[in-house]
Amino acid sequence: MIGLTRRNILHGLSAAVAWSMLKPLETLAVGRQRFKTDPFALGVASGEPTTDGFVLWTRLVGPDLALLDEAEAAVGWEVAEDEGFRRIVNRGGAQVTRGLAHSVHAEIGGLIPGRPYWYRFHAGDAVSAVGRTITVPERPERLVLALTSCQHWENGYFAAYRDMIEGEPDLIVHVGDYIYESPTRNAAVRRFGADVPVDLAGYRARHALYKSDADLRAAHAAAPWLVTWDDHDVQNDYAGLIPEDGTPPELFGRRRAAAYQAYFEHMPLRPSAMLGEGGMQMYRRLSWGDLATFHVLDDRQYRSDQACPIPGKLGGRRVGVAECPELEAPERTLLGAVQERWLDEGLARDKTQWTLLAQQTAFARLDLQAGPGEALSNEGWDGYGAARRRLTDSLRRASPRNTVFLGGDVHSFWANDVKVDFTDPKAALIGSEFVTSALANSALPPGLFAPPEENPHVRFSDTDHQGYTRLSIDRRRLEAEMRMIEDQTRPGSLSHSLARFVVMDGRPGPKQA
Ligand SMILES: [Fe+2]
Repeated sequence: MIGLTRRNILHGLSAAVAWSMLKPLETLAVGRQRFKTDPFALGVASGEPTTDGFVLWTRLVGPDLALLDEAEAAVGWEVAEDEGFRRIVNRGGAQVTRGLAHSVHAEIGGLIPGRPYWYRFHAGDAVSAVGRTITVPERPERLVLALTSCQHWENGYFAAYRDMIEGEPDLIVHVGDYIYESPTRNAAVRRFGADVPVDLAGYRARHALYKSDADLRAAHAAAPWLVTWDDHDVQNDYAGLIPEDGTPPELFGRRRAAAYQAYFEHMPLRPSAMLGEGGMQMYRRLSWGDLATFHVLDDRQYRSDQACPIPGKLGGRRVGVAECPELEAPERTLLGAVQERWLDEGLARDKTQWTLLAQQTAFARLDLQAGPGEALSNEGWDGYGAARRRLTDSLRRASPRNTVFLGGDVHSFWANDVKVDFTDPKAALIGSEFVTSALANSALPPGLFAPPEENPHVRFSDTDHQGYTRLSIDRRRLEAEMRMIEDQTRPGSLSHSLARFVVMDGRPGPKQA
């Protein structure tokens, strides 16, 4: 048992905050502030779990979820071994500032591996909701994770999170489009009630609106999250510093920096993720003992522009392979040279049982054209053929024991074989891929994808449903269950199983369970 040692108390305390550790909890006060409304209305979250800790997140807000007026405020936290906070093992505090929207990103360490912890925050006379999180086991036998992406506020309720929470995942992995920046023409369930965000105030307000959703807050409070972003967290189909709408890169750079900062301010990320000058360190690794390693990728921040865009037409598009040799141009990159090298080196070192590539877009090639000829989307890995080959080459060299790509973005469920060369039917199988559908968003128009015979490495696809994917991983096998929500336009709609696949240890490729 870890006691409340002086070291870990001091560790968590920043200079400006101090209170007596001996005070009983009822009188614990952080600052003297009296809040007119609940400053913790955006909820609490945890993330980036390790064997001895995690990151705790919250953000103080004023009335109507607006930025607090104060330049600074004091926030304290408590971490306990029990839900009733009788055995508190870590306390700390921080002075939060207006510059980062009064957000807290507290890195907690010194805890016991492989057990649940409960946490809450204090500010002035206010106490937050209680969150539950876990530390990573030292020798895990099993990992249950929920994979999710794409939640459009206007197109669906987030009730699939209720089903996700009932499944008690160890970890929730969100691979992007956490917020959407643009409204839809026919909002199905609710409105943003605000313009498309272009500055810090706009993106902060959008994130705050999202966290006013009780299902989303509950999911954050239920388990640690591992997040990466996609395009809509900034702007549809942006590429590096190139926006989809022809805004000069310098202007777009300011907008992107605002979106990145607001994303950071609302996610349980480490403070080191904020690099300054508009950059964010999103690619990183997280290990689940010797059972699994997550290589979390960022394929938006450093990518080359989409191949063969049509001048004046917004966003990505379907491109005929024959008329766009640029699709395969070797100098084009999706991850950027530095991240590519980082991934290559990390894969070479990865000796865990399951190598999980958590990333935003679908990896397997997808010919969109029925019949003769081929057409690809220029927006995901298909638009960056040489970059994809560099990654499959890395995998071939490193030869991890089991490689599984986890992706989202395409608002549909997929289970794919990952091959060294997708155009060669005889090419070696080197991994598996699961792409999860939108948690809440409209389905893609029918007929967008070619019939299955065009893409023999696709084992399963479903373009009609929303939901998430639950993965249960042990030494012997990985099981992926696609869970679909019955009706995303009804608050509280139930979810149920749509399909189940297994990948056996040492045998790449999803098999129907
Ligand atoms: Fe999306």
